[in-house]
Amino acid sequence: MKVRSALMAAIEFYEKNDTLSSIEVYVPILMRIINKFGGKDIRDVSMLKIAAFLEKSSGSKVIYKMLAKKKKYFWEMAYFKRYVEQVTSSLPWEDNKPFNLLGEIFKSNGHVPRNVLELGSGTGRDAIFMAEKGSNVTAVDISSIAIKIAKESAKKADVKCKFLNRDIFKMNLKSENFDFIFDRGCFHHVPFILHNEYAQLISKLLSPDGSFYLICHCQQKLPKESFYHFLGKLAWLLNCLEVHQSEILFTPNDIKLIFSDKFKIQKITKHHDETGNNLCCFMRKQI
Ligand SMILES: C[S@@+](CC[C@H](N)C(=O)[O-])C[C@H]1O[C@@H](n2cnc3c(N)ncnc32)[C@H](O)[C@@H]1O
Repeated sequence: MKVRSALMAAIEFYEKNDTLSSIEVYVPILMRIINKFGGKDIRDVSMLKIAAFLEKSSGSKVIYKMLAKKKKYFWEMAYFKRYVEQVTSSLPWEDNKPFNLLGEIFKSNGHVPRNVLELGSGTGRDAIFMAEKGSNVTAVDISSIAIKIAKESAKKADVKCKFLNRDIFKMNLKSENFDFIFDRGCFHHVPFILHNEYAQLISKLLSPDGSFYLICHCQQKLPKESFYHFLGKLAWLLNCLEVHQSEILFTPNDIKLIFSDKFKIQKITKHHDETGNNLCCFMRKQI
């Protein structure tokens, strides 16, 4: 199937299906992709090629600006419904315990990283755990409600933790300041056009011998009854653009493609828990 037919069918589907939100906002971006790659078979167009093209032709920042407002709203609404209105009793990523493999890292290394940064820290469970172990933790989240709850929980637990209500792409933190960076569930919500920027950001903030631990959702197989089936990897684009399906599911190879020029990938393991199928990726900065 050609990229043109696949994307036109997708646009048509999204326009007809009113349970999905405003695809029209993204039609200009999709049309640009169609103009450039329309005649190619979808199997021959990689996401990296599309990302590079979009970055060059409009600057990823422009597209990100469009998305950022929606994203912030999406996360704020999720936490609002859970903690303010209390119409949802739990959020899919919420788990009472700190991430168990994180516990293993802190234990097995025998030493506690001095300065830690957590990206997309939510209500602070893992940040508080790391601070309790003795690290100086800075934790960032785009939702003000999540950050407020995290601050209250840290106070209750009597630990010091710096919680910042920021977008990870606008943190303005000191370079090479962190020995350990942790992300559980934020990266798979970052639009693929910003994957390079994300890898650069981690590399810039990590100290020269620092390590990065990424927990992201893992691609098992493509569901048959959906667009994925015929859109192949291009469905990722719609995934990121579409607020209701904003996750990207990664394979170990995707992780290598995105990170291996800046990081030494030490271990990628699959891990299943109540929050879903995850890849646990442990990396060190390449000096
Ligand atoms: C799936 S939740 C995981 C939260 C937390 N790590 C946990 O495991 O409970 C993803 C979190 O990333 C935050 N987030 C998403 N995009 C972000 C961005 N661009 N900058 C900062 N935080 C972001 C969301 O507000 C949300 O709290």
